[in-house]
Amino acid sequence: MHRKFLIAGNWKMSNGIADSVSLVDVIKSRTSKILSIDMLVCPPFTALDAARKAAAGSLLRIGAQNMYHESKGAFTGEVSYSMLRDCNISHVILGHSERRTIFGESDELINKKVCAALGNSLLPILCIGETEAEREKNQTFTVIEAQLEKCLRGVSNEQAENLVIAYEPVWAIGTGKTATPEIAQEAHSFVREQLAKIFNEKLANSVRILYGGSMKAANAEALLNQPDIDGGLIGGASLIADEFCSIIGTADKLSL
Ligand code: 13P
Repeated sequence: MHRKFLIAGNWKMSNGIADSVSLVDVIKSRTSKILSIDMLVCPPFTALDAARKAAAGSLLRIGAQNMYHESKGAFTGEVSYSMLRDCNISHVILGHSERRTIFGESDELINKKVCAALGNSLLPILCIGETEAEREKNQTFTVIEAQLEKCLRGVSNEQAENLVIAYEPVWAIGTGKTATPEIAQEAHSFVREQLAKIFNEKLANSVRILYGGSMKAANAEALLNQPDIDGGLIGGASLIADEFCSIIGTADKLSL
């Protein structure tokens, strides 16, 4: 089955309004002829509106890095799904390992966010992945299986059509230690098997599974060439226009 690549940048806590607009402008102009893949950048909340306006008229989509599952109320410091909708945001990253480890987000909370996003026309990019200690103890598959089962509870087959999964081994995030294409493929294929169990095989074959963890221009082709890797969720390298646009170019070349 042909799945369209999605190349997504997670800018994390980098780029204010001016830097976000300039980076969007450069990416937009350098990718104006790219039609075969989906492209997304996820700036911080404060730059979402400006980035979306800068990206208008192009195929570059803008996503958020997190959200809260209630529409409004006494949740100091949170940003709701309806506020993201209000900014015309298409995607939202949920359950990133930094949210899990630094901010204590549980699978149960992430599940509420995934359901709220899917129920309100936002496309969630659900992040999963094992830590280095878990991999060393041979727990990679059990960890991934549990994360998927808990975070996708209550998601209908129909809703799952709009789901994107990002496999981000925690030991590869921001460390320069990329998973080898073989290690990544093995995990992605396992994720797809789990999606087939939770939903069904047809759906599992249509859901995009992105790889995240020190992906850059130099290793993108080997990773994207794997049968179950359908794109990338890129941190550090997405802040550098040359790197990010080169990864986009690679995905485009592989799609033709
Ligand atoms: P790096 O690409 O900087 O390793 O970050 C990956 C990531 O966390 C994307 O969400």
